[in-house]
Amino acid sequence: MQFFIIIFASVIFFVLFLVTIVTVFFGAPIVFTDSKSLTKMIEIAGNVSGKKMVDLGSGDGRVVIEFAKRGIEVHGYEINPFLVAISKLKIKKAGLEKKAFIFWKNFWSANLSSYDIVSVFGINYIMPKLRDKLVHELKKNSIVISNSYKFPGWKKMRTKNGVYLYRMR
Ligand SMILES: C[S@@+](CC[C@H](N)C(=O)[O-])C[C@H]1O[C@@H](n2cnc3c(N)ncnc32)[C@H](O)[C@@H]1O
Repeated sequence: MQFFIIIFASVIFFVLFLVTIVTVFFGAPIVFTDSKSLTKMIEIAGNVSGKKMVDLGSGDGRVVIEFAKRGIEVHGYEINPFLVAISKLKIKKAGLEKKAFIFWKNFWSANLSSYDIVSVFGINYIMPKLRDKLVHELKKNSIVISNSYKFPGWKKMRTKNGVYLYRMR
């Protein structure tokens, strides 16, 4: 019995380790938006009614859930299957299954052309590549909300203590 517990614990540890390495390699560490920054993101977004939003690297789903509470459809792409499962549970608990959707998917391979609002809490070395993807795929007037990291070469439309808002031209 003890042998099986050790094997089980080792497998869980190995999977978590692997997921963490892959996550960091693909572009963003596992740190979540705190409630103050989340409030700032909601304020800076302005009137979101009728919009469709995506959170790139949705973590435990907190950004997706808070925006879905404003009545809009919000998607989250998350590469870590544990966080996908946690997010789905949180969405169910909040009764937001018709508004908030989490996909176990690498956001680099997602087509973002249907979204009016994109949010991201990435890391500085992915910002130039992400900027190019957004320029290529987003519609004119879509907005991009970035927590903590600026997009190089883009003019900010609004800033609130480390939260940046951009509009596509
Ligand atoms: C800094 S956390 C932010 C989580 C959430 N957006 C928030 O603000 O609380 C970044 C998340 O992106 C995920 N991630 C990193 N690279 C990714 C990729 N290429 N595709 C999907 N998710 C990714 C990580 O697993 C992590 O959960």
